Amino acid sequence: MADKRVWIFDTTLRDGEQAPGYSMNLDEKLRMAAQLKALGIDIIEAGFAIASPGDFESVRQISKVMGSVTVASLSRALVKDIDAAWQAVKEAEHPRIHTFLATSDLHLQYKLRMSREQALDQIRMAVSYARNYCPDIEFSCEDATRTDLEFLCRAVEAAIKAGATTINLPDTVGYATPKDMKEMFGTILEKVPGADKVVLSTHCHNDLGMAVANTLASIEAGARQVEGCVCGIGERAGNAAIEEVVMEMKTRHDEYPYETGIVTQQIYPSARLLSTITGVKISPSKAIVGANAFAHESGIHQHGMMANSRTYEILTPESVGVQKTSLVLGKHSGAHALRGHLEEIGYKHITDSEMPAIFESFKNLADKKKNITDADLIALMESRPSKRENVWKLVSYTVSSGNTINSMACVTLAKNGKDVTGVAYGTGPIYSALRAIEKIVRHPFSLEDYSVQAVTEHRDAQGEALVKISDGRGFYRGRGVSTDIIEASILSCISAINLMLDDEVEPSGVGISAYKIDESNDMLIGHTDKDSEEN
Ligand code: KIV
Ligand code: ZN
Repeated sequence: MADKRVWIFDTTLRDGEQAPGYSMNLDEKLRMAAQLKALGIDIIEAGFAIASPGDFESVRQISKVMGSVTVASLSRALVKDIDAAWQAVKEAEHPRIHTFLATSDLHLQYKLRMSREQALDQIRMAVSYARNYCPDIEFSCEDATRTDLEFLCRAVEAAIKAGATTINLPDTVGYATPKDMKEMFGTILEKVPGADKVVLSTHCHNDLGMAVANTLASIEAGARQVEGCVCGIGERAGNAAIEEVVMEMKTRHDEYPYETGIVTQQIYPSARLLSTITGVKISPSKAIVGANAFAHESGIHQHGMMANSRTYEILTPESVGVQKTSLVLGKHSGAHALRGHLEEIGYKHITDSEMPAIFESFKNLADKKKNITDADLIALMESRPSKRENVWKLVSYTVSSGNTINSMACVTLAKNGKDVTGVAYGTGPIYSALRAIEKIVRHPFSLEDYSVQAVTEHRDAQGEALVKISDGRGFYRGRGVSTDIIEASILSCISAINLMLDDEVEPSGVGISAYKIDESNDMLIGHTDKDSEEN
């Protein structure tokens, strides 16, 4: 049985966060980490400690709260990286240092300017140095799938002898086929002394759409740790999608008789939270968690489903946490019922002091909307305003608009207990509202991107507005949800503005749904010239 257990290593907050548009602030990373814990992952790669002070701090904070989940920080095979990784993870109950060096000739020659022998020395140095800090060491041979197999065996052997306890063989550029993965893991297990005593790990990128297939092939060949991200986010075309790997093993247990600790009912809440935090929509046709994954449109399919759901459904929405019975609460529901239901759908840690504000928002929503569904509750929870006093909050607005007049908006915002009102004209209601806000906050910005869409169903659906604004220093995203799309737009703009005015957002325990787009994240991992100088 132990041999059938596959450990799930989630790198949403490291490889995933490296992808453009997915950067998160500390508060958001903590929320995502808590959800990943509820999902049942075994190891979380919380970040790349040396990359920036912000990365370091988020790894450190996550380390303190993950309990039985192992917390890893990535580090190049450099002393200063390993020092930073250890400082960041040392407060975890189960810390891990994850160090890596590229092993393919292509990377050695052009990126690292290093001979194979030098690479072996560096691997020995890095792993044994890290081992002095901590007994749990993962070593990754970056670009393993394009590394000469004989040399890969030598590199893995060097890492094992130096004390590595997990050996990761990534398909860094998504080039391999399932046959290649089987051959690579099979050869390592057959030829490298001690390979059967460590955990072999697979980390597949999706450049050719093969990440999940390659991951499953690796497991068949002996890998027992799977690295991946929620929704398959990550560098370029992303990493293997954890939910797809896990549900494949569960649904086709006949072919993949392996076990994981994943609580599959937490899959959809995890995907949904990631999308809410980052503002990046889940594609409707995304396997397992997309809006259409369980929708049956054609008459023939609907007929089949009514006769027997197994005709067209190989896994149930409920098994991955998609609630089909969505009608839940209404105007007359009490705070107790609301809290109980929120707990059922995953909001288990609401404090007594948070509850009155949540209940008030619920009542306001129930006044506007007869039936409150799970989707409404999720939208409500994820768009809660910040508890902080020194940020702008919406007090009231009126907007007049029509096809024969200029739009006019009068908006009142409050900060530190003081109300300020702004009035502006514009060519449309949103434009005039945003200009009124700009006057209030006295900080010019441009609207770089804006979208609105329904997050719940029916005519009284809630609308979700996403904005990206810029003040010339950087880009800031915001999100707002309301039954009124003008209010949603104003709320999304306020959340982006608060971040723009204070991009040191501190953890607040509530849903700040805006973030600065950190273009400097490009400096991560050995993909830059800078690395070759340093390695
Ligand atoms: O893709 C890759 O090779 C990586 C390693 C740093 C693990 O992300
Ligand atoms: Zn990667």
